[in-house]
This record gives sequence, structure tokens and C-alpha cells, in this order.
Amino acid sequence: MKLPTSIGLFCALALVSAQPTNKEQKNVILSISDGLGLPGLTMSREYVRNLETNGNFLNYTYQLPLDDDMVGSLRTSSANTYITDSAAAGTAMATGKKTLNNALGVDVDGNAIGSVLEAAKLAGMHTALVTNSYVSDATPGAFNVHSQSRDDYWFIAEQILGFRGALGIPAADIVIGGGYCPFIPKSAEGSCRPDDRDLLQEAQEKGWTVARTIEELNEADSAPLIGVFDEKAMNYTLDLSEDEPSLMQMAEKALEILIKLSNEDGKGFFIMVEEGIIDYAGHDNDPVAHVSSTLNHMNVHVRIKELLKQINGETLVVATSDHDTGQLGLGTSLPTDAELGEYQWKPEVLANAKHSGDYISKRLRELTEITSDVIIDAFKQYSGIEDPTEEEIKRVLDAEGSSSGLSDAFNIAVSNRARVGWTTRAHTAADVPVYCYGSKYCDQFKGSIENTELPQLIEDYLKLDINNVSEMIKDFNTNATEILGRDTNDRDVNHQ
Ligand SMILES: *[C@@H]1O[C@H](CO)[C@@H](O)[C@H](O)[C@H]1NC(C)=O
Ligand SMILES: *[C@@H]1O[C@H](CO)[C@@H](O)[C@H](O)[C@H]1NC(C)=O
Ligand SMILES: *[C@@H]1O[C@H](CO)[C@@H](O)[C@H](O)[C@H]1NC(C)=O
Ligand SMILES: *[C@@H]1O[C@H](CO)[C@@H](O)[C@H](O)[C@H]1NC(C)=O
Ligand SMILES: [Zn+2]
Repeated sequence: MKLPTSIGLFCALALVSAQPTNKEQKNVILSISDGLGLPGLTMSREYVRNLETNGNFLNYTYQLPLDDDMVGSLRTSSANTYITDSAAAGTAMATGKKTLNNALGVDVDGNAIGSVLEAAKLAGMHTALVTNSYVSDATPGAFNVHSQSRDDYWFIAEQILGFRGALGIPAADIVIGGGYCPFIPKSAEGSCRPDDRDLLQEAQEKGWTVARTIEELNEADSAPLIGVFDEKAMNYTLDLSEDEPSLMQMAEKALEILIKLSNEDGKGFFIMVEEGIIDYAGHDNDPVAHVSSTLNHMNVHVRIKELLKQINGETLVVATSDHDTGQLGLGTSLPTDAELGEYQWKPEVLANAKHSGDYISKRLRELTEITSDVIIDAFKQYSGIEDPTEEEIKRVLDAEGSSSGLSDAFNIAVSNRARVGWTTRAHTAADVPVYCYGSKYCDQFKGSIENTELPQLIEDYLKLDINNVSEMIKDFNTNATEILGRDTNDRDVNHQ
């Protein structure tokens, strides 16, 4: 696996001129690593350390870019279970209220509740959401929309663009990520809309800049801006196709515009940047994709730290996760081991791998026949495994072309060889780390905090009032099923 580099593509940022500074200006960058728990951090740190030192254990000087900024941990349970999903977790981190799993920006009774991003927008700040998952997904959605179900993407997409907003205006000025499916007409390939509206076309007519390619993203220089690059979530960082911008490119573009706008008017900004596919790697039990996504997340912070000097006023940067996914263990006993197993895990196994299990599965399914020779070659070429065992090969053959079966077969082989174990394919209840830098206010985040405290602390820092927003939007209908039924009877309502 190659290390992602932290070289910025947008050198133009260095030219942002020194405007008259608003000394009071405050900005917040909230960075969420979806599904990243503590063991995942150790896995990535040891991975780089092993590479850099050729496995010299006495050399333990390597630190992850965020290691010095750790301030505490976050507790993540939802209103109805110890194990949260990303919707309830995002809602807690955006609104300060616990809700039911699956619910987005609503309380336990389904009423719309205000988010820190909406409060920032109403206070005149510039606002942005960036993710390499899809923009209508739960984490960005929790800051931006109100829907009793996280799965009503068409409804969420209409709210993102403010066509059906609780506030009557779009809450986020900049939205960049994967997932064009709910924005394009039902008749178009890759659509997940129930109707033939072309939201991107409508957005353009309403003055949004729309980016569907890297070139269009590079050219974009103003808000409102919507960038959507894949049907749903984007590929894992180490598998990115040439047509997909990286999280780094998307975050840099959003920050470039936010810095420009806030330098012009002295208003601060609020941005949530999500590395959204560490979670997918956790669900897939794929340690290779996990490490690459985690280092991707870390590298975004290397860049943010460089950019801080160019941002007027003070910028509070908080990084945390919404929950742990997979609860990986570094060190496993295998059936072949003596009773206790060995005291080691093997990062070098991950270093030899070049692609995720998902990528390998896609490549194999492009073939007409998956023979043993093809499998042996795939292990060698993609996973860096020169000597697959009969059992490992058989697992691929037995998958009979099922995409998850194929991907599992490679992920299991790599995990076993690296001695990385997984507790589950789902989320877990484990606490997650909290990092903070950029302000003395970081002291407030110290210790073990509840996920609901996070937006409350940001609200106080920015002197916002989330309750005011909740009061304003409490009558907004958050039930997509009801609205769809009504709209189907009367198409006109759809275009309000
Ligand atoms: C330890 O690793 C660092 C890089 O992380 C390297 O610069 C240094 O030379 C190494 N020192 C030893 C004693 O191997
Ligand atoms: C929405 O309303 C429908 C119809 O009234 C109801 O069946 C459903 O439970 C409500 N909630 C969600 C999340 O759709
Ligand atoms: C991911 O990469 C593949 C190439 O492996 C490409 O075909 C695809 O369009 C990319 N995007 C998604 C969402 O899979
Ligand atoms: C909240 O609402 C009250 C009453 O409408 C208003 O006086 C106050 O200024 C608002 N606060 C903020 C921070 O918007
Ligand atoms: Zn998840």
C-alpha cells in the first residue's frame, strides 16, 4: 500500500491576501472519522512506523499527525440502544440531543431540532459539509436536514438544496462528496429518486455552482456550491479512480472558498469534514482499506494545520468519531497457535497489500471465470500474498462470484495473516477519541464527554443558540413517507 501524500493541490490558497482582520472572527472545523476507534489508530500508527523503520521496534518515535492533540474520549450511545448508528450519532453531535437510531435531525418524537450548523448559518457565518461518503448520508445529513428516516435520500437531497428546507434556505453553503443518486431524475442511470426532477439542474438555475467532475470542482470558486462525484459513496482512498477527487481535494476546495468569503466579510465559518469510509472498511472487516482511510483522515489534518496561518481570527479544530465500527483487535490467536497465540500482530502484511477487498472483488467479477490461477494471481497482485493456502483459495472459489463473499475471502486472508481480529461487522459501543487544537478553548473538551456535549461546547464557543433554531423549525414535516403520499396526489406541492 502506498502512503497517501499530504501535498496540497491548491497552491492558490497561499495567495489569499491579508484583509482587514476581524479580531472577533471565530471559525470551527469539525472533523469526523466515521467508525474510527482507538485500535484503528494504533493499527495505522504501527503501520507507518513499521514501514519507516523496517520493523525496528526500538524506534518508536513516529506519531500520527493528531497524536499530540488528543484531549479525551467521547461516549456514543443513542436514545434507544448502547450501540448507535451514524444517524443518531450525527444528530447528537450536531444538535446536542440523543435520538433514535435511523433518525436524522429530529428528536425521539420525530420533531425537527436545530443543529449547530443551522445556528451558524442563521448567525451569518459561512457553512460547509464535506464527505467521501454520500452527501445525503447520515453524518453530513444530521447537520443539514431533518428526516425521521435516514434512508429517504430524495427528501434529504431536496433539503440539502433548500428546496424543501426547514429554514426556508439551504443551511450549508457548500456541500461536496459522493452520491448523485437522489439528485438526478428517476429515468437517469444511477438515480434513486421517486420522480423525474433534476435537482442539479434546478440548483444551477437557482444560482448554485454544480460540480460533477474534478475539473468542475477545481474551477469552482464561490458559494453556494454542490459537488457530487459518485452514484453513492466514493471508493476507498487506495482504490480511487482518476475521476474521483480525494477527501483532501474536496476539503481544500471547501476551505479555499470559506477562507475567501470570510476574509471578505469578516464573518467566521463552520465546516464539518467527514472521512466517511473508515466505517465501510470496519463493516467490511478490511484492515487495508481501514489503514488507508485513517491515514487519509490524518493527512487532511496535516493540511488544515498548514492552512490555519492563512485563516483570519481564531479557528477551533475538533476531531472525533461518531462511533467505533468492527472493534478490531491487534493480535489474534489462530487455531494453529499454541494455547495463547503469539504476542504480535504484523503490520508488514498490510504494507504489501495494494487494494481493498472490495476493489479485488470488483476486478474478479469483471472476468467470465474465476479459476484457481486467477485467484492465486489476484492474491499476489492485489493483496501482496505470494503463497495463498488451499483454504484461502477455496474461500474465494466458494464465494461463487458474490461480491461480498469475494471481498470477504481476501479480507479474511489479510486479517488472519496480519493477526488483526474483528469483533463484529457492525458498530460497537466503544468510546472514541477526541482531539482538539487551534484554541485555548480546547480545554473544554478534556476528559470523557457525552456526544451531546460536543455541539453544546461549539455553540458556546461561537455564541450561537441552537434552541432558537429548534423553536423556529418545530413545525417542519420530517416524515418523507407522508409527504410523498401527499405529493403523489398533487404534483404541484413537489415544487414548492
Ligand atoms: C527512527 O525513525 C525515524 C523516522 O520515523 C528516523 O528518522 C530515524 O532515523 C530512526 N532512528 C533509528 C535509530 O532507527
Ligand atoms: C411517517 O408517516 C407514516 C404514515 O403516516 C407512518 O406510517 C410512519 O411510521 C411515519 N414514520 C416514518 C419514519 O416514516
Ligand atoms: C471506483 O473505482 C472503479 C474502478 O475500480 C470505478 O469503475 C468506479 O466508477 C469508482 N466509483 C465507485 C463508486 O465505485
Ligand atoms: C434567540 O431568540 C431570542 C428571542 O427570539 C432572541 O432575543 C435572541 O437574540 C436569539 N439568540 C440568538 C443567539 O439568535
Ligand atoms: Zn456504519
